[in-house]
Amino acid sequence: MVELSVLWTRILPLLAALYSVYYWQFITSRQHYKGDAILNGKTVIITGGNSGIGRVTALDLAQRGARVILACRSLQKAQDAAEEIKARTGNSEVEVRHLDLASLQSVREFASGILESEERLDILINNAGIGFAREGAVTKDNFHLIFGINHFGHFLLTNLLLDLLRKSAPSRVITISSIGHEWVFSPLDLTRGDHSSSGSHGSPVLYPHLRSYFQSKLANVLFARELARRLESTGITSVSLHPGVIYTPIWSDMPVDWITTINHFFCRPFFWLFFIDEEAGAQTTLHCALDDSIPYLSGSYFDNCQETAPSALAQDDELAQRLWEVSCEATGLNC
Ligand SMILES: NC(=O)c1ccc[n+]([C@@H]2O[C@H](COP(=O)([O-])OP(=O)(O)OC[C@H]3O[C@@H](n4cnc5c(N)ncnc54)[C@H](OP(=O)(O)O)[C@@H]3O)[C@@H](O)[C@H]2O)c1
Repeated sequence: MVELSVLWTRILPLLAALYSVYYWQFITSRQHYKGDAILNGKTVIITGGNSGIGRVTALDLAQRGARVILACRSLQKAQDAAEEIKARTGNSEVEVRHLDLASLQSVREFASGILESEERLDILINNAGIGFAREGAVTKDNFHLIFGINHFGHFLLTNLLLDLLRKSAPSRVITISSIGHEWVFSPLDLTRGDHSSSGSHGSPVLYPHLRSYFQSKLANVLFARELARRLESTGITSVSLHPGVIYTPIWSDMPVDWITTINHFFCRPFFWLFFIDEEAGAQTTLHCALDDSIPYLSGSYFDNCQETAPSALAQDDELAQRLWEVSCEATGLNC
C-alpha cells in the first residue's frame, strides 16, 4: 500500500503539475478571432441567441455594429439577453423574435415576419440546439425532438430565407454542428416511419431512425455542405463548425437516470477540467461569420477557427443529397 504521506507529498503534487501542463496547453491552443471586422449596416439572425455560445456571439456581433435579431423560443429569456447586449454594447439595434424550431408552423411564421420587415440578411447563424430529450419526445410535426429542432427546423428556416440572403450577397449561413458528428458510424437511415413507432402525440414518428444528437450534428455538416454546392456562384457561403466543448445550459437537460446520477456525483465536479468557457466557445462561429477567407471555403467544416476535415460520412455527397430530398419532403418544401 502506498503510504499516505507519499500520496500527499509526491503523487498528488505530481498529478497537479501534470494537469497544469495539460490545461495550459489546452487553453493556449485555443484560437481566437482577432480581426477588426465592422458590421455597420449589416443584419445578422442568430437562433438561440439568448444563451450559451449564441449569446456571446450575438454580443460580439452587436459590438461590431450589426443589427442583431435573436431568434428564440423563450421571449422572456431573449428580452433579458437583448437588454444586456444593448446595455453592454450601446447598440440599440438588437431585436427579439419568436422562433420555436420544434414547430414548422413557427418557423414559417418567423420567416415571413423577417421577409416582411427586413431589407437584408447578411449572416444567418443556425446555432440553437438541444442535446437531450426524453424517450419518445417529438416535435409538433412528429419528428424526434432532437433531430427535428437541430436539423429539420434549421433546414426549413434557411430555405425560407434564401431569397433575402441572395439579395444581400455576399452573405453567409453558418451552421453549428459538433465533433460528435464523428461518432455516427453508419449512413443515416432515411426511411419513413409507420404506425409501429408512435411519438408523444400518438401519431407515427416520421423518420424514426433519425433520433440521436450525433445524427443531428452529422445532418448539420451534410446540410451545410449540400447547401454550399447548391448555392455555388450565388455569393452565399455555407459552412459548419464544431465550437469546442463548453459548459453551457445544454448539458443541464440530461435526463435523470442512473447514468446521470453517476455523472452528477462523480463526473460533474471534474467537467470544468475539460471544458472551455463560452467566450472561447464562440470564437469559431465568429471566425466563420467574419473572416475574409470564408467565402473561398464554402462547404467546409471548421474546428478551433481552422478548416478541418469532417468524418468520412459527412463528406458523402450522395448521402447529403438524399438527406436534402428527405428534408424537403419532411418540411413540405417544394424543392
Ligand atoms: N456546449 C457544447 O459543449 C457544445 C459542443 C458542440 C456543439 N454545441 C452546439 O452549440 C450550439 C449552441 O449550444 P450551447 O452549448 O450554447 O447551448 P445552450 O446554451 O443550451 O443554447 C442552446 C440554445 O438553443 C435554444 N433552443 C433549444 N430548443 C429550441 C427550439 N425548439 N427553438 C428555438 N430555440 C431553441 C435554447 O433556448 P432556451 O434558452 O429557451 O432553452 C438556447 O437558446 C448547439 O447547436 C449545440 O449543439 C455545443
